[in-house]
Amino acid sequence: MTKPLRIGMVGYGFMGRAHSNAYNRIGNFFPELGYRPVLQAACARDREKLARFASTWGYADIETDWRKLVARPDIDVVDICVPNNLHKDIALAAAANGKMILCEKPLAMSVAEGEAMVEAVERAGVPTMVWYNYRRLPSVSLAKQLVDEGRIGRPYHYRARFLQDWTISSDLPQGGAALWRLDVNAAGSGVTGDLLAHNIDTAMWLNGPIVKVMAETETFVKQRLHQETGKVEPVGIDDACIFICRFQNGSMGVFESTRYARGHKALKTFELNGADGSVMFDLHEPEYLDFFEYRSKESGQKVPSHTAGWRRIHVTNGEHPYMSHWWVPGLVIGYEHSFVHAVADFIQGLETGKPAQPDFRNALETQKVCEAVLRSARSGRWEETGVAL
Ligand SMILES: NC(=O)c1ccc[n+]([C@@H]2O[C@H](COP(=O)([O-])OP(=O)(O)OC[C@H]3O[C@@H](n4cnc5c(N)ncnc54)[C@H](O)[C@@H]3O)[C@@H](O)[C@H]2O)c1
Repeated sequence: MTKPLRIGMVGYGFMGRAHSNAYNRIGNFFPELGYRPVLQAACARDREKLARFASTWGYADIETDWRKLVARPDIDVVDICVPNNLHKDIALAAAANGKMILCEKPLAMSVAEGEAMVEAVERAGVPTMVWYNYRRLPSVSLAKQLVDEGRIGRPYHYRARFLQDWTISSDLPQGGAALWRLDVNAAGSGVTGDLLAHNIDTAMWLNGPIVKVMAETETFVKQRLHQETGKVEPVGIDDACIFICRFQNGSMGVFESTRYARGHKALKTFELNGADGSVMFDLHEPEYLDFFEYRSKESGQKVPSHTAGWRRIHVTNGEHPYMSHWWVPGLVIGYEHSFVHAVADFIQGLETGKPAQPDFRNALETQKVCEAVLRSARSGRWEETGVAL
């Protein structure tokens, strides 16, 4: 029998919508799951806007104070979809109230905050998950499957990019609604925590721990009007970040992220090159995974040179990760579905007792890499990450 999983949503912005959409669709596309999300209450400070959001998405009730939301006995899961500086306090209060917690990325503002969150949820024994949703695109999951099947062989290189251009104008203010990402006190960091955290999570999922990093960051616009104070204030975030790294398995990594790549809105790519094969992914065409097979896993033989070449896998077959839940082969799904898959995995974790990943402890490792990257950018030296996966 399907049991209700009563959701208390904090935040109604970009992620509040993406997650609400996922909760609403999951019952139709994953009917076999034993829990069914129920949109119990949504929370934000602006009552009027919140009421509109709640009615659009089907929330039964609203709260304007997250402290009240996390204490409600009719909430099973607290979903944290607010700026990064609020993650820790809400998570700690939710854990103290015995709630399951789904938290947006990055887990926290810092490793110290993340450690406190891990400690609190483990002490409370509550299931958690962090929304590193890109893992759940079928093509990215297929890349993981190919790695796990040994089709890449000894890994040599990993490279990833996440490029945008929306903050180039120096007239753009920082802080407040929509622009909290430019305010270091709300975001913790710039592109490192906002964009590269996604790349780092995927990289360590596919290729194992990143053990040391060497980074450069830049803040191209040094001061901006702050929307909340009304004053021109220094900009504390990194506008751009590049880093090189070493993985525990000996392979080398190179990562780049910026919000100053004119023309790019969300160019998010990764590539892994190994002795026996390579995979390449590009978010602009999320339904494809590019695969080069040098040596056949099945025969153990090198693919003959005259037939070797990059293969573009259209990741839409029923045999591909998650795809049997959607349409017929050849028909694509997209970005929003990665959130539906995250909910499905979380519920499956509840059913099987094998928690969906990344949970808080796993997401803390990405936080450690982000922090080491920023440390290295300041010190100008290689920095150990301390990742313990
Ligand atoms: N997984 C992803 O791909 C992805 C994408 C975007 C954002 N995020 C993460 O999701 C989180 C939210 O980002 P967003 O893009 O949805 O932001 P947003 O600005 O669109 O929405 C933020 C929401 O938080 C609410 N809020 C702010 N302060 C609050 C408070 N004190 N109490 C209650 N509500 C409050 C705002 O009203 C707003 O509804 C961030 O941690 C961000 O890093 C993740």
